[in-house]
Amino acid sequence: MAVPPGPVNLHDLAPEARETWLEIGFGGGEHLAGQAARNPGVLILGAEPFVNGLGSALRHIAEADLTNVRLHAGDARELMAALPNASLSRVFILFPDPWPKTRHQKRRLLQPDFVRDIARLLSPRGTLRVATDWADYADQCLRVITATPGLTWTAECANDWRNPPPDHISTRYELKRLGDCAPIFLEFTRL
Ligand SMILES: C[S@@+](CC[C@H](N)C(=O)[O-])C[C@H]1O[C@@H](n2cnc3c(N)ncnc32)[C@H](O)[C@@H]1O
Repeated sequence: MAVPPGPVNLHDLAPEARETWLEIGFGGGEHLAGQAARNPGVLILGAEPFVNGLGSALRHIAEADLTNVRLHAGDARELMAALPNASLSRVFILFPDPWPKTRHQKRRLLQPDFVRDIARLLSPRGTLRVATDWADYADQCLRVITATPGLTWTAECANDWRNPPPDHISTRYELKRLGDCAPIFLEFTRL
């Protein structure tokens, strides 16, 4: 999907879809394709610049004969800038690049401006799910996201962030267990 110069008209993309979800950095696309198969009435947008990941996602989409997916081959921020306010009911960011070295941490995706744009895109009661297996990135996400107006963390007890949510589909990166802690799942709601 090429991002047009003006705003993306989601109704034109999938007139029959009841809602639209976005997965940012879908990697090999296992989660994106799995969610699309389980939720045929939802339009699922994905953004990923890594060309091998795009190839893998296209294979999953073709194998499952999915028609409710549109992919942006590039930086999610380009696609996000073209989406209307309150147009998404779910956003997934699963195991974003951790950039664990202190001098590289400014490259992390989850920065205040980026999260403010997600808040702009989420509809009321829409949700953002972030997962990471790097403890200090989880801390950074919590700090940045809870400081963003309109977003609130839904966890009520430790099991809410320690256990995968019931509808989670494991990703390739998650299964590699490269981080310094067990996977942490953070879910936020748009007020
Ligand atoms: C550590 S991998 C995880 C991939 C996948 N979510 C998984 O869990 O297997 C992070 C992914 O985010 C993608 N990524 C990094 N910056 C991005 C951006 N600005 N927009 C979209 N994707 C991005 C990378 O190309 C990479 O595939």
